[in-house]
Amino acid sequence: MIQPRSLSIDAARYFGLAAPARLHDRLSVTVTERSFPPYLDDLQADWVSSVATPAFRLLAGRRGAGGSPGFCSIGTGTGLDALAAIELLGATLVGITDLHEEVVASARGNILTNLRDSGAIHLLAGTGDLLAPLAAAAAQDGLRFDVIYENLPNLPIDDDSRLAERRKSSSFVPPRPEAVPAAVRNALLTLHYVALVQAREFLAPGGAVLSMLGARVPLQRFLDMAERAGYRGSFLTYGWKIQAEAPEVLAGHAEWQRLGLGPFHFYRAEDVERAFAGLAPEEAALQAQAIERDLAPHSLDAETALAAHHDGARIAHTYAVLHSVAE
Ligand SMILES: C[S@@+](CC[C@H](N)C(=O)[O-])C[C@H]1O[C@@H](n2cnc3c(N)ncnc32)[C@H](O)[C@@H]1O
Repeated sequence: MIQPRSLSIDAARYFGLAAPARLHDRLSVTVTERSFPPYLDDLQADWVSSVATPAFRLLAGRRGAGGSPGFCSIGTGTGLDALAAIELLGATLVGITDLHEEVVASARGNILTNLRDSGAIHLLAGTGDLLAPLAAAAAQDGLRFDVIYENLPNLPIDDDSRLAERRKSSSFVPPRPEAVPAAVRNALLTLHYVALVQAREFLAPGGAVLSMLGARVPLQRFLDMAERAGYRGSFLTYGWKIQAEAPEVLAGHAEWQRLGLGPFHFYRAEDVERAFAGLAPEEAALQAQAIERDLAPHSLDAETALAAHHDGARIAHTYAVLHSVAE
């Protein structure tokens, strides 16, 4: 059993702020054995710092001050995503879920202890699958959110022998009972789709779901997924990040390629850096499919990317923040 560790994080650096208004300057964040950790040594590999935070900043500008009082994170990990939403979206009603009690309890503590005024936030924290822990509050009290955020894993567990080992990991998706379109399943988007379907009942009028998507499959698959789940999807931001946990994630995609899915797209960091040079993520979103086409000659499938990683290459992937509004 790995003991929980405590991280001290410079809020201004992590969230790209001049100075935090609602959070303490230094955050004290507990990471338990099963919490998905932040990548403080390489913020370009960190989803909350490099992808969610710019997306929240952009959304706050679009929705206006006070436009997103209700925020929910499905699969919050350490709760840093909720802290970003409190700081940047001005969220005051915050819902969080994750699979394990210890993760949710520490995320709850991480949120409340790092606020300048914890009394200003109404926090609902529940342990369990996707939005199920908040379903009773939605049914009884009419709980609704303006922004529902998810950064769920992509990789299904491939066979029974790995089930026990990988069920413990936050990076793999166990088999699901829901009906999921084959095109969604084959693009390894099952959990994102199921989350979108569930989120409809939790959205306030005018609300949106933000899905953090590693774009290892063609961007069109994301728009199709949103449509199949009953939404109008568009890209809020498009960019690239360093592949975190590269050996495990690349090997996982390579296994699925051998089983006939994919190919999945990865890149050398220098190639994506050049393709996105000078473009803010919201500008890149407006020309996402053209950038994707330009990058095609540089794409490495999972097997090739894994070999390049072993040879010392820095492997990256593109990401898209999908903004889905119920139809
Ligand atoms: C990639 S981490 C993201 C953590 C954090 N939200 C972020 O953006 O950095 C995925 C998180 O989803 C959680 N998760 C995976 N499957 C889930 C499910 N079915 N229901 C709720 N949470 C889930 C994992 O435990 C993990 O904390």
